[in-house]
Amino acid sequence: MMENFYITTAIDYVNGAPHIGHAYEKIYTDILFRHFKKRVKECFFLTGTDEHGIKIQKTAHAAGITPKELCDINSNKFKEAWALLDIGYSKFIRTTNDYHKKIVQDIFEKLLENGDIYKHSYTGLYCSGCETFLNAKDLDEEGKCPIHGKKPETVSEENYFFRLTKYKEKIISHIKNNPGFILPEFRANEVLNQLENIEDISVSRAKSSVEWGIEVKSDPSQVIYVWIDALSNYITALGYSVEGNHDDNFKKFWPANFHIIGKDILKFHSIYWIAILMALGVELPKSIYAHGWITIDKNKMSKSTGNVISPSTVMEAYELKTPDALRYFMATAAVNGKDGNYSDIDFKEKVNADLANNMGNLLNRSLNMLVKYFDGEIKEEFIKDNELNSKAKNVIEEVQTFFDKCDISSAANSIIGLVDEANKYVNDTAPWSLAKEGKMDECGMVLYNVLNLMVKIALLIEPYCPNIAQSMANQLKFDINLEYTEITSNMIKPGMLITKDEIVPVFLRLDSEFATNKK
Ligand code: MSP
Repeated sequence: MMENFYITTAIDYVNGAPHIGHAYEKIYTDILFRHFKKRVKECFFLTGTDEHGIKIQKTAHAAGITPKELCDINSNKFKEAWALLDIGYSKFIRTTNDYHKKIVQDIFEKLLENGDIYKHSYTGLYCSGCETFLNAKDLDEEGKCPIHGKKPETVSEENYFFRLTKYKEKIISHIKNNPGFILPEFRANEVLNQLENIEDISVSRAKSSVEWGIEVKSDPSQVIYVWIDALSNYITALGYSVEGNHDDNFKKFWPANFHIIGKDILKFHSIYWIAILMALGVELPKSIYAHGWITIDKNKMSKSTGNVISPSTVMEAYELKTPDALRYFMATAAVNGKDGNYSDIDFKEKVNADLANNMGNLLNRSLNMLVKYFDGEIKEEFIKDNELNSKAKNVIEEVQTFFDKCDISSAANSIIGLVDEANKYVNDTAPWSLAKEGKMDECGMVLYNVLNLMVKIALLIEPYCPNIAQSMANQLKFDINLEYTEITSNMIKPGMLITKDEIVPVFLRLDSEFATNKK
C-alpha cells in the first residue's frame, strides 16, 4: 500500500465567480482523491484561489472596490461552490495568505542568489487575460491573443528574468525518460514542441504598472510575476522552507502524485514549474494531468455570450439535494483528457439512464424481492461462489489501473458496465420466475449474488456519487469507507438484511426544468 498521496488542482482566478468549467476540475480531482483514500494511508488534497495580478487589479478597480475586497468576496464564492459539490479538500490556499507571500519572497530571493534570476530591460506584448508575455507568432492575424480575443499591451520595463533556457535539456530528458510524467501521454509531444522555442521568462513587473502582487523583498519597486507566485502554492501550502526547515506536511506529502490542471495551462506546469523546482533543488511532482475543456451546448463559455453556467444554477434548476448527479455527469462528460460538453438534455439522459434506471432500480427491485420472498433475510445456503464475483474482481482491478492514469471517465464506464452485467444476470435468471416455480434456494442465490455485487459497485461509485453510495451502504449494511484491500468475495453475511420500511430509492429520475433557461 502506498503510504502518502498528494493531489492538487489549479488555483482559480478570483476576477469572477466559479462556473462549471472550474467545477469540472475540482470534481475531477475530488473523485481521484476519494478513490485514492481507499488505497493509500494518508491523502492530502489542495485547492484554492489565485488572487494577484493585473487582471484582478483591473476588475476590482472597475467595480470600485479594493483588490483585497474583490478577492475576499470571490474567493468565498469558490469555497461555497465547492461545499455545494461535496469537494472534500484538505486545505484551501489563498495566494494573499501571509505565509504564502513570505515563502514566495524567499523563493525569489533564493533564485536571485543562485543566479537563476537576473535583471534585464525588455519590451514585450503582455496579455492580461493569460497573465503572460506573448510572442508575435502566438497572435492571430489581427494581432490579438487567440484565447482572449484582445490585443496585448506593449510593455517596456526593466524586469527580473528567470533562466528558463538553462533547464531546457534537463526538462526534455525528464519528459522523455518518464512516460506518464505528463498525462494523458498524448500531451507530452505538445510540451516537447513548446520546449523547442523557449526563452528566458520575465518573472517580475514594475510596481508602477502592477501594484497588486507580492513585492520582491530586495527590490520593492518590483512585484513577483503572478505565475511564479501561483505555481509556488503547491509547496507553500505544505510548509516548504528555502532553508530546509520544512513543515511535516511537506516532508510527508511532497512530491505531489498528481497536479490536475486544464490543458490551457500545461506549459506553465510542465515547463515553468518544473524549471523552478529544478532551480530550487526540490524533487519534481510525479505526474501532471491535463484535462480538456468543458463547453456549453458546444459553445465556449464566455461572459460576452452570456452562456456561463454555475454549478449552483444546475443544482437549483433540477432541485438537486445532493451534487451526485452533476458530479457523475461531469466525470463522464469528456473522454480522458479531451474536451467535453454540458447540455441539459445530455445531463438528464445520462444520469437517468445510469444512476436511476440502471443502478438505482437494480438495487431497489433486488431488495424488494428479498423482502417479498424472504422477509429481507439472507440465508446461509444463498452464498455460493458465482461468476459475478470474478467479474467484479476484474473490474475492481481495471478501475484502479484507470485511476492510476487519472482516467476517471473510463473507470466510470467500467463500473456502469458491471451494473449492466448485473442487470443482464437478473433478467436472464429471472428470480421472480424461480420463486413462482418454488425454486427458493436458486431465487435466494440470485438475489444474494446481485446484492453482494451492489456492495462492490457502491464502493467503486462512491468517489463519483458519495451520497448515493452512502444510501446504498445504509441499505446493504456495510461501511462505505472500506478500503480496497478489505473487499472480499462475499461482503454480505447471512442474517436479517433489510425490512420493507428501510428500502428507499437511491436516486430519483430528473424531470424538472432546464438549467440553461435559468441563468
Ligand atoms: N490561476 C490560473 C491557474 C494557476 S495554477 C497554479 C488559472 N486560473 S483560471 O481560473 O483561469 O482556471 C483555473 C482552472 O480551471 C484551469 O485549470 C483551467 O483550465 C480550468 N478551466 C477554466 N475554464 C474551463 C472550462 N471551460 N472547462 C474546463 N476547465 C476550465 O488558469
